[in-house]
Amino acid sequence: MSGETIISFHGISRAFGDKVVLDRVDLDVLAGEVLVILGGSGTGKSVALRQMNGLDHPDSGTVVVGGTDITRLTEEELVPVRRKVGMLFQGGALFDSMTVFENIAFPLWEHTSMTDAEIRERAVEVLSFVDLGPEVLPLLPSSLSGGMKKRVSLARTISLKPEVLLYDEPTTGLDPVTSMTINRLIVDLNTRLATTSVVVTHDINSTLYVADRIAFLMDGRFVFVGPKAEAATSTVPELRAFFEAGGTEK
Ligand SMILES: Nc1ncnc2c1ncn2[C@@H]1O[C@H](COP(=O)(O)OP(=O)(O)O)[C@@H](O)[C@H]1O
Ligand SMILES: [Mg+2]
Repeated sequence: MSGETIISFHGISRAFGDKVVLDRVDLDVLAGEVLVILGGSGTGKSVALRQMNGLDHPDSGTVVVGGTDITRLTEEELVPVRRKVGMLFQGGALFDSMTVFENIAFPLWEHTSMTDAEIRERAVEVLSFVDLGPEVLPLLPSSLSGGMKKRVSLARTISLKPEVLLYDEPTTGLDPVTSMTINRLIVDLNTRLATTSVVVTHDINSTLYVADRIAFLMDGRFVFVGPKAEAATSTVPELRAFFEAGGTEK
């Protein structure tokens, strides 16, 4: 970890109608770390994550990514930001009518001038990063298990070589064994690709496995931000309750 700040929130507020989801929050994501945004459902974790690549905009405050204020960028100006800050969506969001190859190739066709041969080579390479072989390339998503779909989505996300990976509930809906393979991949990819990762979850086991630091979101604020080791003994009762309700430290 280099410790340099790669994404920062400065006084971010976001409300939907009269429901305040983020209330003047500050947060720094440090280069090289795995930061977990933990919190109950509906607390605004996805909303917070979506600020990090401009998929959602704050009502006030600023978001700085790699030294650039992205708060008021247009959709067109956000294209390079989204390349740099890739997102694994909740549910994976694969195109059902496209093969695995086409799903992975799609962003490369859209955003690069790579040749078909280069794209095929990249597809095989990114699949290997998620422990899948080239035999899955011609398959349709409907023939894949939930865990494999997640891995293909992840392969697609890393195909553009992002500097930051955003994961929205990467283990939700997966069985415990498959969840653990995804947890291992998150940690492994963060090291092998020398990226920074932000993981939104309410899964304490996943948090314990992947996190360097934890940011706990409650009532519109990050009421705890710190190293994983300090979270279990935090003075925030709701955060301690997560640990007490959840699993065993890895
Ligand atoms: N686009 C939207 N329009 C209206 N309300 C939204 C929108 N996105 C999120 N919300 C509301 O903001 C709150 C936080 O949502 P979210 O960030 O998805 O929670 P979670 O912590 O479960 O990821 C919820 O009450 C949700 O209904
Ligand atoms: Mg969510």
